[in-house]
Amino acid sequence: MPSLRQILGAVAVGLVTVTSALPAFPRMSPRMEKMFGLATRQNPATGLPDNLTDVDVLQFALTLEFLETAFYAQGFAMFQDSDFAALGLQPADITNLKSIQGTEQAHVTTLMSAVAGAGTQPVAPCTYNFGLTNAASMIATASVLENVGVSAYLGAAPLLKSTAILSVAAQIVTIEARHQTFIRVASNAAAIPSPFDTPLGVRNVFTLAAGFISSCPTGSNLAVTPFPALTMATGATPAAFTAGTSLALNTTATGATNCAFTNGGLAGGTAFTAFTNGACVIPQGLAGLTYVNLATAAPATGVLTDAITVAGPMAMAAS
Ligand SMILES: *[C@@H]1O[C@H](CO)[C@@H](O)[C@H](O)[C@H]1NC(C)=O
Ligand SMILES: *[C@@H]1O[C@H](CO)[C@@H](O)[C@H](O)[C@H]1NC(C)=O
Repeated sequence: MPSLRQILGAVAVGLVTVTSALPAFPRMSPRMEKMFGLATRQNPATGLPDNLTDVDVLQFALTLEFLETAFYAQGFAMFQDSDFAALGLQPADITNLKSIQGTEQAHVTTLMSAVAGAGTQPVAPCTYNFGLTNAASMIATASVLENVGVSAYLGAAPLLKSTAILSVAAQIVTIEARHQTFIRVASNAAAIPSPFDTPLGVRNVFTLAAGFISSCPTGSNLAVTPFPALTMATGATPAAFTAGTSLALNTTATGATNCAFTNGGLAGGTAFTAFTNGACVIPQGLAGLTYVNLATAAPATGVLTDAITVAGPMAMAAS
């Protein structure tokens, strides 16, 4: 059995997708899209709630924290300390790993209080399918989820109007970053792969989250529409994913002309390459987790907007 350091050490070399370690992001059924997408407050042109409020942003953060808390609860119910030790984690690593769940739960409690304190009913937790098969898949998925958590808070920060809420969000995002760094260090990946983390917009984050959601009670409608899923094409080999090589993709979305590789280290945030025959060349300059979308344009500003996004994102690990 390969050790965890070997499994995730490989992620640190070149540009290796970790989507293979994730459950395939299922396409949403029309019923699920309705459940997630159609709310009276949604602006159909943006796929987001009209007049997005700070409470909407808190509800969105709460949705993600529920998901993360459920992820650790399910994983630690399935796998024992001995499973993590067999991957090469030391007892202190296992203690640190298990401490993450409690901090995610504390974020849930804090966000629920903040939403309720604003006079709004907090969203309810959903049921989830993380597709966990073994302890190594749990660690690989945790690494991606923590990265998405950091990206979600960074993307939401400019949407907030209240500096008090921004301060609470800042207190949470640094902890999500510690989770992420701990998992990288325990996995023998570079602790700090880039000088900048990667902000991600609400619809992009929700598209990634929706891939783990089986169903939600009615009290959890965010009025956010996910983008169509983007996955690697069947048979694409992670070992081939290095800058300059071709990445074969699969989606039901039509009209894409470009791939968009979003990474905090890039000028403008996103590098675009042509989407030809279902594939794109992977650009230079990616470091840390990178999000891949399909787009209908390649703006010279390097800025990917929802308006030109047609599918994705898919999460990929670059060093
Ligand atoms: C959003 O705000 C605008 C301007 O304040 C207002 O006219 C509109 O009715 C609002 N829409 C919703 C759905 O509340
Ligand atoms: C794309 O995904 C669909 C649905 O999962 C699958 O049936 C099909 O074989 C995939 N095609 C490629 C080229 O990967």
